[in-house]
Amino acid sequence: MSMSKKLYIETIGCAMNVRDSEHIIAELRDKEGYELTNELTQADLILINTCSVREKPVHKLFSEIGVFSKKKKEDAKIGVCGCTASHLGEEILKKAPSVSFVLGARNVSKITQAVKEDGFVQTDIDYDESEYAFGDFRSSPYKAYINISIGCDKSCTYCIVPHTRGDEISIPPDIILKEVKKAVQSGAKEIFLLGQNVNNYGVRFSDKSLKKMDFSDLLDAVSEVDGVERIRFTSPHPLHMDDKFLNVFASNEKICKSMHMPLQSGSTKILKAMKRGYTKEWFLDRAFKLRDMVKDVHISTDVIVAFPGESEEDFEDTLDVVKKVRFEQMFSFKYSPRPLTKAAEYPNQIPSDVGSRRLKILQDLHTEILDEISLSQKGKVFEVLFEELRADGFIAGRSDNNFLIRAKGDKEYLGKFADVKITNPRRMALYGEILKDE
Ligand code: SAH
Ligand code: SF4
Ligand code: F3S
Repeated sequence: MSMSKKLYIETIGCAMNVRDSEHIIAELRDKEGYELTNELTQADLILINTCSVREKPVHKLFSEIGVFSKKKKEDAKIGVCGCTASHLGEEILKKAPSVSFVLGARNVSKITQAVKEDGFVQTDIDYDESEYAFGDFRSSPYKAYINISIGCDKSCTYCIVPHTRGDEISIPPDIILKEVKKAVQSGAKEIFLLGQNVNNYGVRFSDKSLKKMDFSDLLDAVSEVDGVERIRFTSPHPLHMDDKFLNVFASNEKICKSMHMPLQSGSTKILKAMKRGYTKEWFLDRAFKLRDMVKDVHISTDVIVAFPGESEEDFEDTLDVVKKVRFEQMFSFKYSPRPLTKAAEYPNQIPSDVGSRRLKILQDLHTEILDEISLSQKGKVFEVLFEELRADGFIAGRSDNNFLIRAKGDKEYLGKFADVKITNPRRMALYGEILKDE
């Protein structure tokens, strides 16, 4: 009997990276016999799937490599994958000699080759993996992440992603639908569609003869697969939120009523400098329309403060949008200049302390809004898909409209839907009681 080799993998960054890690795990398990471990010291192979979107995670990578190389088994290999791999390539091997190989975010299918060649570097962002058949591995039994596109065709001036993941190519609908069927057959209740710009789906396929299909059509097609109970997706782009898309979102019952609307800035001037393609008015129009069309819709957002040239007045515009839309969730960041991006070259960079102050004002405002939103959920009943058994005796899951909900319960509920009445709404989660069927 041979002992299987052990793989330890750390994933930083967005949901696409989580999915890429699942693909890496499946490839290495099926083709090279690796088994996952949570114990770094047991691992024969240590992978770090990296993010490059802000400077911080890049620093973190090099400190992490230092720690890993001290703790690891003597002959264990370290590999760096993901967006920082794409961005820094060879430089990683030079800076960190304990790293054996570097594999870019668009070269995931080459992982089996990478683990066998010391000094392997592959970071080609034109490489086309849109039709590659990866094996099956899912981190959650109830939820399946499925890629619908690779890369990103936008050129937001602050963002490094198009330089780490390349141009956008849509994955053919028949491949996506096959993945959806496989996922439900193996027990997934929720399908989570992923892309940097999901509602731009269908603009370019590798196979030019493929029939056009847009994101709205894809959503309908996915919802028709037997066994699909919930559909979520991220990230849509506010620019492409046309009426057709909003109508499908509102009317298709399988689609969870939670929409990510990455604002970035509330100032039309800054949005222009960011090359986002929409105005403050367009964003507000879409958000209000969504609130009108869909009762209890949950709207989340991403905001960047202190983008080059952002005046106090521009920042006020951002606060204004936050006050008007009252996002149920907000991810906010201080602008971080990134190599290869246009905005990093802009002359009017904002001092770091101004950025920190604005970030705090924005976050305090949102915390206030969030507390009001949470409190107003008291007494409401939500259908929750329970996914996690917690050490404190609570089980946790999400409502259709993406509230994190906890209730007393046991593992019998995992992977099942139950109605929960909110009794104790808190900022981080809404606590409630499971309503038993009569
Ligand atoms: N494709 C997604 C974004 C992926 S990056 C979208 O368009 O929504 C995730 C978030 O990181 C972005 O929405 C943005 O808010 C933030 N971000 C990207 N580049 C950044 C930078 N240079 N500095 C600070 N935040 C940034
Ligand atoms: Fe970056 Fe913009 Fe593409 Fe999102 S849409 S990944 S922010 S370039
Ligand atoms: Fe980070 Fe790459 Fe995702 S830069 S946010 S891991 S696309």
